[in-house]
Amino acid sequence: MSDINLLTPGRIGGMATRNRIMMAPMTRSRAHEDGVPSDLAITYYEQRASAGLIITEGVAPTAVGRGYARTPSIHSAEQIAAWKKIADATHAKGGRLFMQFMHVGRIAHSGNRYTAEPPIAPSALRAAGQMWTDANGLQDFDEPRALETGEIPGVIEDFAQATRNALAAGFDGVELHSASGYLPMQFLSAHTNRRTDAYGGSVNNRIRFVVEALEAMIAAAGSSGRVGMKISPGIVFNDIQELDPVGTIETYTALLKAIDPMQLGYLHVLQSAFPNTFEALRPFVSVPFAAGGGFTHETGDAMLAAGKADFIVFGKPFTSNPDLPVRFEKSAPLTPFTPDTFYTPGAKGYTDYPPL
Ligand SMILES: Cc1cc2nc3c(=O)[nH]c(=O)nc-3n(C[C@H](O)[C@H](O)[C@H](O)COP(=O)(O)O)c2cc1C
Repeated sequence: MSDINLLTPGRIGGMATRNRIMMAPMTRSRAHEDGVPSDLAITYYEQRASAGLIITEGVAPTAVGRGYARTPSIHSAEQIAAWKKIADATHAKGGRLFMQFMHVGRIAHSGNRYTAEPPIAPSALRAAGQMWTDANGLQDFDEPRALETGEIPGVIEDFAQATRNALAAGFDGVELHSASGYLPMQFLSAHTNRRTDAYGGSVNNRIRFVVEALEAMIAAAGSSGRVGMKISPGIVFNDIQELDPVGTIETYTALLKAIDPMQLGYLHVLQSAFPNTFEALRPFVSVPFAAGGGFTHETGDAMLAAGKADFIVFGKPFTSNPDLPVRFEKSAPLTPFTPDTFYTPGAKGYTDYPPL
């Protein structure tokens, strides 16, 4: 056992963090239709600056990567300028932020997009399920178009350009969202990736997209410590079917072995269907290991003290407790979160939770 706890200072790449608490990436659907984050997001993020690291909501690197209503992007000058206001305000409060890149791939509906381009995916397989649209309520996912092999370098370059854009906006780094059934995970999972070229089939081929995207993001950032990644092996979400624990852990072990020499700023793992995901993957990760999914003050401290993680990621508790680390420090009660306002427009349930 060590004496490290949630409030112990930490380090990500060359950056010191004031504690071991990360705010989880959380889509809050308060951006404008054109992918520009609203000014409300300035308040929302600066209110949460006491986190050791804020990981932003999922941000689309390109217009084709946006799938949900009122979610933000980072490809236009206007979007970059709006994100800069958010980064500046959060930094002024002593906060640190990484921007999460969420390319939805096939998890999209045309009613939520500001491009006429169809969604792209490793294979032309429509995801089972529905998503919310403001105009017509719940709708089936659109059928995606399968990427041509020759188009993949361009998609990877979009992640590199988004990295340059996020750093130009003043962000401390970027996170590749390879979890939750979005584009990178659609390449990782055999169920969604039926390709027969170098990006599909064998484990080494299925991890290729993620490896190349990280390489491009690191080159764009000029430092691997400014790049993190989120994974969620075996998650049951967005029609991902990684049902076989052995094969799934084999895929992720191969991925982690391939990327460990890159020395990312951190690896962020969401606990999902399999009980021992953290224990199974940790031996292959020599960079800071950030564990997330259902943690409390007590279980987070215990995980750090046991050396099973270096950071703990908190999601839902941060929605209703903007000063969550301060509350942990003072052992103050937490305000319960309100799922009804997770994705609704406006300040209600977003910026109106007071600090202690
Ligand atoms: C409202 C909401 C939105 C979310 N949006 C994202 C997202 O954009 N990107 C992502 O990687 N995870 C997203 N998640 C998952 C969280 O990052 C986190 O992994 C999950 O909530 C588990 O942590 P918790 O139990 O501490 O909430 C979201 C979760 C919630 C509650």
